[in-house]
Amino acid sequence: MEISRIFLGSLDFVLLASLVVVHGDPLVPALIIFGDSVVDVGNNNNLVTLVKANFPPYGRDFVTHRPTGRFCNGKLATDFTAEYLGFSSYPPAHLSQEARGNNLLTGANFASAASGYYDTTARLYGAIPLTQQLSYYREYQSKVVNMVGRDKANAIFAGAIHLLSAGSSDFIQNYYINPLLNGAYSPDQFSDIILGSYSTFIRNLYQLGARRIGVTSLPPTGCLPAAITLFGGGSNQCVARLNRDAVSFNDKLNSTSQTLRNLPGLKLVVFDIYHPLLDMISRPDDNGFSEARRACCGTGTIETSLLCNSRSIGTCSNATQYIFWDGFHPSETANEVLAGNLLSQGFDLIS
Ligand SMILES: *[C@@H]1O[C@H](CO)[C@@H](O)[C@H](O)[C@H]1NC(C)=O
Ligand SMILES: *[C@@H]1O[C@H](CO)[C@@H](O)[C@H](O)[C@H]1NC(C)=O
Repeated sequence: MEISRIFLGSLDFVLLASLVVVHGDPLVPALIIFGDSVVDVGNNNNLVTLVKANFPPYGRDFVTHRPTGRFCNGKLATDFTAEYLGFSSYPPAHLSQEARGNNLLTGANFASAASGYYDTTARLYGAIPLTQQLSYYREYQSKVVNMVGRDKANAIFAGAIHLLSAGSSDFIQNYYINPLLNGAYSPDQFSDIILGSYSTFIRNLYQLGARRIGVTSLPPTGCLPAAITLFGGGSNQCVARLNRDAVSFNDKLNSTSQTLRNLPGLKLVVFDIYHPLLDMISRPDDNGFSEARRACCGTGTIETSLLCNSRSIGTCSNATQYIFWDGFHPSETANEVLAGNLLSQGFDLIS
């Protein structure tokens, strides 16, 4: 890996970079990923669901210049993270052909677009609920135990970084549009419900031997182009109500995580992606961006602004200066900035 690729913003990065270079091996044995479309690398390709990204123009700037199922023009933040940690490949999608043999020993990706803390969110869209992702992880663990034996396998599970990205779909693709939920619960009450699922998930993961876990906060959901289209009432400004709910959820996520840190030996880091993304959106020029509102793909009229596919009218020719690739997801450039933030915040997970 090249040091120059690292977003050198703090001493931690410098220290990490030198660690990577000195040893040449990854800093941790494996990277295990759970969650939603922000981190899905192709599990949904294998499902009967409308929530897929395995067609152009998705992937056009990826290493292979082909769609993979990633909801991005190029790499996800977690792809950069894998590189920064010193891995030479990305954890394969659990349901893909690549998830076999030695590939399993450096990690796996169980994430599924449109999944979330609330299992019903995933079920609405035919995605893989978080509880099912955990069952797949159990299957994965058995395979690893069969390959390397119980002791070595346990060392891999305890040393591996487990990343979880969830919650956005629960709000945007379920709570805000589902009268059964928003009629019954306030955003605060809904947050409490899904944070109950979060606690259970972390405890189960801990039971399975995970000791290094990172969870991402909600992004500024009110600034996602699709959210502005759906809930902005014709304005092109971030939807303040949604951002307030995200901040309030993130505070609760923080305090819930503080309680979970009582589990002996558990390192649990809450990654703040709210502020880094809001910072990019508020001051795009400072971060080398020229477009913070419109997505590169799927822009145009209100009707098409939710959809990105090969027939999307007006897809931008170069996504480099766009913060958003499609209505819900950051571009590769924005992901690289986010990954730099993850790295600096995640130092405790590695040391
Ligand atoms: C969590 O709390 C810490 C300090 O208590 C604060 O520095 C951090 O910004 C909070 N994180 C989020 C995501 O709100
Ligand atoms: C996209 O634009 C950036 C500068 O914003 C430039 O460095 C890059 O080469 C361009 N990519 C393509 C494929 O034109």
